Amino acid sequence: MADFDHFPVFFGYKEFITVYKKALFLASNFVYMIQYEALYNITYGLYIVTSGCKDKPAGFIANAAFQVTSEPPQFAVCCNKNNYSASIIRQSGMFGLSVLHKDASAELIGTFGYKSGKDINKFDQVAVKYTNSGLPLVIQDTLVVLEFKLVQEIDAGTHYIFIGELIATDIIDATAEPLTYAYYRKIKKGKAPKNAPTYIDESRLINTLTQNTPEQNNAHQYKCEVCGYLYTEDYAGAFDALGPNWVCPVCGVTKNEFIKI
Ligand SMILES: Cc1cc2nc3c(=O)[nH]c(=O)nc-3n(C[C@H](O)[C@H](O)[C@H](O)COP(=O)(O)O)c2cc1C
Repeated sequence: MADFDHFPVFFGYKEFITVYKKALFLASNFVYMIQYEALYNITYGLYIVTSGCKDKPAGFIANAAFQVTSEPPQFAVCCNKNNYSASIIRQSGMFGLSVLHKDASAELIGTFGYKSGKDINKFDQVAVKYTNSGLPLVIQDTLVVLEFKLVQEIDAGTHYIFIGELIATDIIDATAEPLTYAYYRKIKKGKAPKNAPTYIDESRLINTLTQNTPEQNNAHQYKCEVCGYLYTEDYAGAFDALGPNWVCPVCGVTKNEFIKI
């Protein structure tokens, strides 16, 4: 039978408190290991990535696009596997990049960032030019367009990282300023949908976002059911007074897509 009276006591009250405190520290570190707010400080631009041809065009809004090497000039774009554009880029082996300017319209961003080429032809209503190889490039609200040959594809789980070698460029409007993701979020009050690599579920934010919080009075808020944009009467005037031509400043849908919350 075990002799517990003579069993050495290594684990007294003091030790217990030390271990308990360490565990608490580790647990709190674990909880706060990723502060999602921190990710809003990463800088990006905003682009339309296009692919395909006149009869089968594809395109989506991307902020995850950047240059990876200079010799040769290669760029990477991060494309959700569920995007219609992903399959077209893989099939055609080419893609383009339109660098959007600061005043890019909500309708353009709404069409290319919140709708899918599976359901609509996004190129019907926008200014497009075709390269010698037939690649469509959006030139509306655009500073420059770049054309790439797909040279590598990396499987990154939910997304592909497409790497393209730059083969041609065209300057559309050298005077305009490029649109940054920070400007889109802070000034245009834009958001990113689930397919964007930078999407953050707001429940993960430790400090609740304050940008659209209504004052503590009778102001009402209306939520866009397509992109989640919040219209706050306090800042912007009565929702009912908005004319029939008013559209969501983020995704471009009409008032009918809003619900009162
Ligand atoms: C601001 C913003 C940034 C986005 N960034 C990306 C991105 O970098 N990669 C991506 O795959 N989707 C991104 N998206 C989402 C796609 O644009 C969106 O899912 C689009 O509807 C896909 O279109 P498609 O199905 O026609 O290809 C972004 C959307 C917005 C509004």
